[in-house]
Amino acid sequence: MKNPYLPEPCRIVAIKEETDIESTFTLKSSIRPQHGQFVEVSKPGVGEAPISVSGFGEGFIELTIRKAGHLTGKILESQAGETLFVRGPYGVCFPADLFAGKNLIVASGGCAVAPVRTLIRSRLADQEQVSRTSLLFGFKDPQSILFRDEIDDWKEAVPVVVTIDKEACSWTGKTGFITAHVPDVAIADPATSYAVVVGPPVMMKYTTQEFMKRGLSPENIYVSFERRMACGIGKCGHCKIDDSYVCVDGPVYRYDKALRLLD
Ligand SMILES: Cc1cc2nc3c(=O)[nH]c(=O)nc-3n(C[C@H](O)[C@H](O)[C@H](O)COP(=O)(O)OP(=O)(O)OC[C@H]3O[C@@H](n4cnc5c(N)ncnc54)[C@H](O)[C@@H]3O)c2cc1C
Ligand code: FES
Repeated sequence: MKNPYLPEPCRIVAIKEETDIESTFTLKSSIRPQHGQFVEVSKPGVGEAPISVSGFGEGFIELTIRKAGHLTGKILESQAGETLFVRGPYGVCFPADLFAGKNLIVASGGCAVAPVRTLIRSRLADQEQVSRTSLLFGFKDPQSILFRDEIDDWKEAVPVVVTIDKEACSWTGKTGFITAHVPDVAIADPATSYAVVVGPPVMMKYTTQEFMKRGLSPENIYVSFERRMACGIGKCGHCKIDDSYVCVDGPVYRYDKALRLLD
């Protein structure tokens, strides 16, 4: 029987510094994830952490990692040519097929743009979905904007709002939390529109409320949880909220199911 904890050695082929504390690693890998899934990434002698797949293609995956503590700090010190160890993919993905042909608004904040990036890329690669997609991103300040160049490209194709929390002298764009901008998003028919909302719990709680004020039902909203995890495969219970194991029942949840799990 295959050991489910056995990771695949993955060589780092490129590293792109996104911000002072976040970099995107391109790893040579045979892992084929779906949008919104995560992998467990380890560095021998340091530890293992769940990380969303922020990009993938033939023979590679991308992981966008924020320096949060010991392991992520060590990973961010890694150089191209070194090896990281990866197992997965794990978890429930976004239901891209359900969204196909429907209006979709993706709202995400900070590092949480990483788990929605492949969903956005796939929508924008499909001409039929482009006119039905709009994006709403929130960051702490201009320096924290992730995937800056790619977001500029997305602006050429679809309506994109980028907002930062507070006014800053170098910033001429929108300010305030994401919640303040949901009322301005064009939603032609709420009954047939979907929203994906991913960010810190407080952001998800209030942003989903704003979408519901716009007429979306909880059944048409999807969220994704970042929960402390260990095994990632439903064995250890670290990620459990009530009776739900976030690593296998999530991290993506339909909001009517997630409601009872939000703190
Ligand atoms: C499904 C999922 C997807 C994730 N995707 C990404 C991603 O794409 N990029 C990324 O940078 N990070 C992601 N994370 C968070 C990442 O797993 C943690 O930042 C990492 O485990 C911290 O490990 P560390 O040893 O560096 O920090 P530690 O030294 O263990 O902790 C440092 C700080 O981070 C906090 N922390 C630890 N684990 C988590 C967690 N799971 N969620 C929130 N805070 C945590 C601790 O409370 C502490 O304050 C994801 C987490 C989950 C559950
Ligand atoms: S992380 Fe072990 S059960 Fe979910």
